[in-house]
Amino acid sequence: MTEIANIFILDGERIAFDPGQTILTAALAAGVYIPHLCAHPDFAPHGSCKLCTVTVNGRNGSACTLRALPGQEVRSNAPELNEIRRVLLQMLFVEGNHFCPGCEKSGSCKLQALAYDVEMLSPHFVQFFPHRNVDASHPEFFLDFNRCIMCELCVRASRDVDGKNVFALAGRGRDAHIIANAPSGKLGDTDFAVTDKAAQVCPVGAILRKEIGFVTPIGERLYDRAPISEVDLAVEVK
Ligand code: FES
Repeated sequence: MTEIANIFILDGERIAFDPGQTILTAALAAGVYIPHLCAHPDFAPHGSCKLCTVTVNGRNGSACTLRALPGQEVRSNAPELNEIRRVLLQMLFVEGNHFCPGCEKSGSCKLQALAYDVEMLSPHFVQFFPHRNVDASHPEFFLDFNRCIMCELCVRASRDVDGKNVFALAGRGRDAHIIANAPSGKLGDTDFAVTDKAAQVCPVGAILRKEIGFVTPIGERLYDRAPISEVDLAVEVK
């Protein structure tokens, strides 16, 4: 019997994969970037942001959750898919309060970097301007709910790596939000620590270290130097 090679086609390029790999992890390992926001190489896929939407054999799906299979024809860097990504990003921008020029995370923010990458020129939709709080109760961190995009990377990191469950999701639909797991609801009343994995994974400026916001000047930050499509291939692929 002939063995079928573990290869799929991504935008015309042959991508080899290991059985069990997703389309996203196989593409990144092969040096081909697929935009993604809620996916992280250290955690099980979440499948919520849909930035990684690709077309597989003519049907759209999330590259971070779809298993790579031999012979798949995958499209990613296509005008219609980048348009979907632009619209998804625009919705994320208007749903929260993302004011890049005044944000300490500017230049290191995946949301901002992806918006540049897919050439999002305006928010397009009407801004929600939701009323959200900032929790400054922790001695070393701010928790700015205005910038949270609900990727739940902090939830996954605290639960799966730190074993602490500092963060959790509460509410439903438009009321869904991240909470700090303390009777007071304050981050300062949890055992959240600088060394926690959850302190390192926020892709936006929702979990921010205090007092170091401008240690790296704007213009010299992670995505100031190169587009996210280059930077994340280097830092996420091990
Ligand atoms: Fe795949 Fe978010 S990266 S759904």
